Amino acid sequence: MNKNLTCLAVAILCAVACKTPEKTVLPVYLDPEKPLEERVEDALSRMTLEEKVAVTHAQSKFSSAGVPRLGLPELWHTDGPHGVRPEVLWDEWDQAGWTNDSCTAFPSLVNLAATWDRDLSRLYGDCIGEEARYREKDILLGPGVNMGRTPLNGRTFEYMGEDPYLAGALVVPYVQGVQSNGVAACVKHFAVNNQETRRTATNSVVDDRTLYEIYLPAFKAAVQEGGAWAVMGSYNLYNGHFNCHNDRLLNGILKGEWGFDGVVVSDWGGCRDDDEAVTGGLDIEMGTWTNGLSGSASDSYGNYHLANPYLERLRDGRATEEVLNDKVRRVLRTIFRTGMSPEPHYGRFTSPEHFAASRRIAADGIVLLKNDGVLPLQVPEGGKLLVVGENAYKMMVVGGGSSNLKTKYEVIPLEALREAFAGKAEVVWERGYVGDVTTDYNKVVTGQDLSENRSAERLVADAVQAAEDADCIVFIGGLNKSDRQDNEGTDREDIVLPYGQDGLIEALAATGKKLVVVNISGSPCAMPWAEEVNAIVQGWYGGSESGHALADVLTGAVNPSGKLPFTMPLALSDGPLKTERQYPGIREEGETWWQEYYDEGVFIGYRWYDTRNIPVQYPFGYGLSYTTFELSNARVAKTSLAPGASQTVTVTVKNTGSAAGAEVVQLYVADTEASVPRPSKELKGFEKVYLQPGESRRITFTLTPQDLSFFDAGSHRWVAEPGEFHALVGTSSADIAADLPFTLK
Ligand code: GLC
Repeated sequence: MNKNLTCLAVAILCAVACKTPEKTVLPVYLDPEKPLEERVEDALSRMTLEEKVAVTHAQSKFSSAGVPRLGLPELWHTDGPHGVRPEVLWDEWDQAGWTNDSCTAFPSLVNLAATWDRDLSRLYGDCIGEEARYREKDILLGPGVNMGRTPLNGRTFEYMGEDPYLAGALVVPYVQGVQSNGVAACVKHFAVNNQETRRTATNSVVDDRTLYEIYLPAFKAAVQEGGAWAVMGSYNLYNGHFNCHNDRLLNGILKGEWGFDGVVVSDWGGCRDDDEAVTGGLDIEMGTWTNGLSGSASDSYGNYHLANPYLERLRDGRATEEVLNDKVRRVLRTIFRTGMSPEPHYGRFTSPEHFAASRRIAADGIVLLKNDGVLPLQVPEGGKLLVVGENAYKMMVVGGGSSNLKTKYEVIPLEALREAFAGKAEVVWERGYVGDVTTDYNKVVTGQDLSENRSAERLVADAVQAAEDADCIVFIGGLNKSDRQDNEGTDREDIVLPYGQDGLIEALAATGKKLVVVNISGSPCAMPWAEEVNAIVQGWYGGSESGHALADVLTGAVNPSGKLPFTMPLALSDGPLKTERQYPGIREEGETWWQEYYDEGVFIGYRWYDTRNIPVQYPFGYGLSYTTFELSNARVAKTSLAPGASQTVTVTVKNTGSAAGAEVVQLYVADTEASVPRPSKELKGFEKVYLQPGESRRITFTLTPQDLSFFDAGSHRWVAEPGEFHALVGTSSADIAADLPFTLK
């Protein structure tokens, strides 16, 4: 038979053989139909010791290993809470210079918190999760929910305010939104990490009641209600142990009491000890300072605590494979929830819907603090609007630390105001002061030129002169995510506005022109000029559409409905942190670490100011609208409540003004008969209600026994003591419309 015939015969035989394949049986771990835990166990059983150790630590700056031999993919981590960080080089912080990774920049999380809107938080999570999935990232390093213990915390802009109930209520939908895309939300920084000063060398000393009532609830909600798949340990110490491998926090509380089945990721460089890394509840070690891939080390990732040192411990019996298997199960669970999710996820990136969502969230979080009628802006036909302030011009998506983003575009307030008044009035800008001229971070650049050669006096004089023929002035200033001005790694030094802004605002007020002050910041700022200006707006780092969002509110296109997620104090010294041992901590002679004592206990934020009747500039939960609302007919279902029973609180809210708008009805609880000192009120419910003029709605809140309880450290349980309680219904922590007493039997 000649060669061709032989080949033909072989080809026919192969075709026949392949034509009738019996159904190929997939190994369990590869079968998306199989239950998660079966896939985990099957994969675990197939892994070698070296493969198990490999998946517990980084292989590059933002990835941890998979199991190539078994087809188990790597896990790709990415910052941050406000958008998907640009791709970085394998072992560098600098961006890799890709041309396809300019993202949608969403508003800072404090801006989201200021919306008090659970639905917007879900929308936020859905959108940012789509962006992470599209960029093929498995773990989004956010959201952050550390409490606002001090207004000076450099990362206040990345967090969700001073109240655990508000942060907890909003973090849940965000996490669910992110994870609906097959991307793990990684809630951070766990826990009691409430400042940036010496963040890697300070031990937080907190009593259990304070820990459980203030600093844990938002994380607990994210895990137990949000179903978070990942948690990031924080840099600081608690109880003398680093939180990236803190046995009590991670094994005792997170995995033990709360039943967390996901993965604990260290903060970058937060893993500090070979032995505790193994036993302290850490599952994936990221970013440990090594000498990188440069210099002598051929593979610095092998130097990680959970790399070769861990292998040695396993081989010489100092570490058990049982503990290793628990880490690996959690990593595998994360892989099967994300990259190997049974449901297909494709994501979307920089879609019009994402920018629209960003603009909506940014606008709905803007807080109207004062308005004598000058807003919405009215500028006469052919008139002149003077805009003063660097923050009208400076792009703020770039910078601030790890939440820095390379965004497709950023609309600045000046541009948006010019658009809004095009053809109607002239919009002129005067810088007024020089703040931060930085225009780049990790090689991400804004392209702006912020250089200035005029003196501070000249800048003020130019602004005042420009006011002479202006019909209205809008000052746009505040902070700017530069060092000590809302920036990771540094805290602020005071809440006074920097760069001479107070003097400039006074000078503008002295012109007698109508003056609107917009403070753009991520943390509280003092406003000594509040009585001298016509309107005050608290704006935030609003992301790609921040300029449009602000213009929407100033022009009335959007009726402001934001509420402060933190107290705006008159002065820093009015706050609860009176001593150095409270903040930023002290270091005794011969001690390695600083000690920071949370002596104020549960009394932070309005829990402090309100209970001590300390006047504030603007209270927690406060915000005005272009319309007016009225609360009426507030009731409690039971004036005498049986132990263990829930209480129902109802109230009617009505839009009594002429514009559609939204009000946030807030429910606080006061326990006036308690064996421990309790705050004068604590937020235990809120509803944001959108109403047409004249429309009203009846709202119902439920108070559970948990809502009435304090945490009793002695018995390690929540206790609702019999006695008198008050349900307080209002539109801010200081504007209480109804005080409804009831007795718990
Ligand atoms: C940073 C931050 C953390 C971030 C991580 C990776 O130091 O503390 O929030 O996700 O390292 O950039």
